[in-house]
Amino acid sequence: VVSAIGQGMAGHAGVSGRLFGAMGSAGINVVAIAQGASELSISVAVAEKEALRAVRAVHTAFGLTRLVHLVMVGCGRVGKELLRILEQTQTKLLEELDLQLRLVAVARSSKFIADGAGLSPGSLTPLWASAENRPTDPELLARVLEEHFTDGILVDVTATDTTELQLLALRSGLHVVTANKVPLSQNLAQYHEIMKACRKLGVRYNYETTFGAGLPVLHTLGELVNTGDELLEVRGCLSGTLGAICSWLDEGLPIREAVRRAEERGYTEPDPREDLSGRDVARKALIIARASGMELEPADVALEPMIPGLEVGLDQALQAAEGPLDERLAVAHSKGAVLRYIAEIAPGRVHVGLSEVDKLSPIGSLSGPDNIFVFRTQRYREHPLVIRGPGAGVEVTAAGVLGDVLKIATSGRRPPRS
Ligand SMILES: NC(=O)c1ccc[n+]([C@@H]2O[C@H](COP(=O)([O-])OP(=O)(O)OC[C@H]3O[C@@H](n4cnc5c(N)ncnc54)[C@H](OP(=O)(O)O)[C@@H]3O)[C@@H](O)[C@H]2O)c1
Repeated sequence: VVSAIGQGMAGHAGVSGRLFGAMGSAGINVVAIAQGASELSISVAVAEKEALRAVRAVHTAFGLTRLVHLVMVGCGRVGKELLRILEQTQTKLLEELDLQLRLVAVARSSKFIADGAGLSPGSLTPLWASAENRPTDPELLARVLEEHFTDGILVDVTATDTTELQLLALRSGLHVVTANKVPLSQNLAQYHEIMKACRKLGVRYNYETTFGAGLPVLHTLGELVNTGDELLEVRGCLSGTLGAICSWLDEGLPIREAVRRAEERGYTEPDPREDLSGRDVARKALIIARASGMELEPADVALEPMIPGLEVGLDQALQAAEGPLDERLAVAHSKGAVLRYIAEIAPGRVHVGLSEVDKLSPIGSLSGPDNIFVFRTQRYREHPLVIRGPGAGVEVTAAGVLGDVLKIATSGRRPPRS
């Protein structure tokens, strides 16, 4: 039996609404209800195995604690930076937002560390040497759910297919924050499955950093779509890696050097062929198209690779591409133009590829790893809405991931819908 006890409850509207709302949002079934004649308490009976979660849900609903549990998968470049920012900001979050983000588990491809009492984000490195083997996805979730928390977020900073894990997490009532594009950019049925799981359980799925790193592109797109605007076209450079490479080519750096430099600066995907094949941009473009309401499959994206023939090997493909790229670049420069790797998303049509653009245009003047998104909509028909800024780099990406976590931690669940 879980009881909410307090003086003056009878005179306060909404106390029982908040109590039952908390139970409902946490998916806890109330078996019986009792209210004392004194009106100093309301008691509910729940299944014994749900009791601890029920107490935590009620504490959160009444603002007695704001404790959010984080389960992190991936601890590479972005993951390590996220841990650093978590360590650095935890005191400030507690003092200013009264919010505690408790890291309870971290998984890598083959290792796993968990502690329900909380791991110190800044002290994980020495723990990996003696860490246990990574459990399977269902076992991993069962382990973290043993802690009976109600406010939990799975933070995905891997670059692998984590669809099964994400779906299991959503269906177990965890919110998901992902920088990982893979689950959202495979077949349409899988995309719908993820979105349906969120709607059904009222859990949140934040994926702002799957494109544009920390730039508020998805947020802007959501506002345009939700306020009834009609998207005519999104055009832009969605890859910080290819943007930086294109600007270095303008400066005369050979393609092989440019790719090496991008790798050294941490701009590339774990496998640089993901960037150079255009697949990374194609995935981002598909996610944007789907977020705008287009029902497209990966095969619907027309893709012209930045570097063709990568199947034979990176070095060989770069060597073969050098001559043709130099020629194309010389032609473009002679016309006052530059080459940029551009994504074009219009209703029912997505194209990504290398194009000539005027050097002085917004896209042509882009330099380094910056991204640019030019939205043409019914409302922004004459003067497009432009978002521009750093679109790659572990620092801005990790900060964007934390931003997505905070959006959930400070607002909580949505009411479930069928
Ligand atoms: N770097 C950027 O600037 C940037 C920008 C925007 C978005 N992103 C996205 O952020 C994500 C992470 O990028 P990154 O640069 O940090 O990649 P990374 O350095 O290669 O790190 C990937 C991490 O994922 C782990 N991992 C792989 N499979 C796993 C599994 N099944 N379960 C748990 N962990 C697993 C790896 O484990 P091991 O440690 O065992 O190898 C590694 O720790 C990617 O999806 C990327 O597209 C990156």
